[in-house]
Amino acid sequence: MRAALAGFLGAISACAQNAPLDTLAPAGPDARKILGLFTPVFAVAVLVFIVVQGLIVYAVFRFRHRDNDPMPVQTHGNTKLEITWTLIPALILAVISVPTVATIFALAKEKPDSVQVSVIGHQWWWEYQYTEENVVTANELHIPAGRSVFLKLTSKEDLAVVKADIDDPSVLSNGVIHSFWVPKLAGKQDVVPGRTNTMRIEADEPGVYRGTCAEFCGLSHANMRLRVIAHTPEDYEAWLDSQRAPPAEPSGGLAAAGKKEFQAAGCAGCHTIQGFSEGRAAPNLTHFAGRTTFAGSIFPNTPGRLEAWLRDPPGVKPGSRMPNLNLTQAQIDSLVAYLRSLK
Ligand code: CUA
Repeated sequence: MRAALAGFLGAISACAQNAPLDTLAPAGPDARKILGLFTPVFAVAVLVFIVVQGLIVYAVFRFRHRDNDPMPVQTHGNTKLEITWTLIPALILAVISVPTVATIFALAKEKPDSVQVSVIGHQWWWEYQYTEENVVTANELHIPAGRSVFLKLTSKEDLAVVKADIDDPSVLSNGVIHSFWVPKLAGKQDVVPGRTNTMRIEADEPGVYRGTCAEFCGLSHANMRLRVIAHTPEDYEAWLDSQRAPPAEPSGGLAAAGKKEFQAAGCAGCHTIQGFSEGRAAPNLTHFAGRTTFAGSIFPNTPGRLEAWLRDPPGVKPGSRMPNLNLTQAQIDSLVAYLRSLK
């Protein structure tokens, strides 16, 4: 009884209303299409479960051992039964395969007038390249609502990040497998080094849709989250304009000192700030202050969180490729001021 109660409590702890990663509450046509396939298949699976379990429970009770029972009749094989229980599942699978294959092919097709974004999985953050727009950003994917977005996904690690080990041939293996998953907008798609997978996503309405990496990819796999921020078409164009613009020049003295520090402390070797630095191993920071979160979308982009991050990145995000640079408080203060100025 206690074990059953513990199991029940464990199961209901998974229940939540307005859960951000709820596949049963789609917010776009692609996710709805998947739910439209899932629902009837699940119904069939429940029916099969009830019939099979019902027969088992019936047999257990009906033919349970009783005192003075004679040895039951021993039989070997029953051709009719065996053909029946092979044919029924084969038929069920054949029927289910029709809508399954149709959905797979429908979702694989690129819709006309799609927005094109390249998604690159890194340990442990997402890079988005709007190739036609000359815009690069990280972790927060901005899209127009009501329009299909076609993603080309791959995984790689920039070797600059491991250049200390460049003589070790194993570091040449170019990244690990991730999986891009925004449950309310689309299915899952593996993000594989050395190949380009595609998927499409679409949101009905403007809003923020949470996602996460869904393939174990190392120490901070659980900290490789993402947000899709869907805008009205006008707001999306305005966002693109803001991203194409060069970064703001620091106005205050502290931020200007931070810009020098960015160069001196070595940040520039890994991070791009358009027109200033060209590192490719880590997120592009050109418009960093415009993001709501950072570090794999796990921290809100606030001065306090930024300060804690700069003091010890692997301390707040296990395995972070950004090392602890042992920055002084003055260096951290100026870097925070500079990063906050990158609107
Ligand atoms: Cu990337 Cu898990």
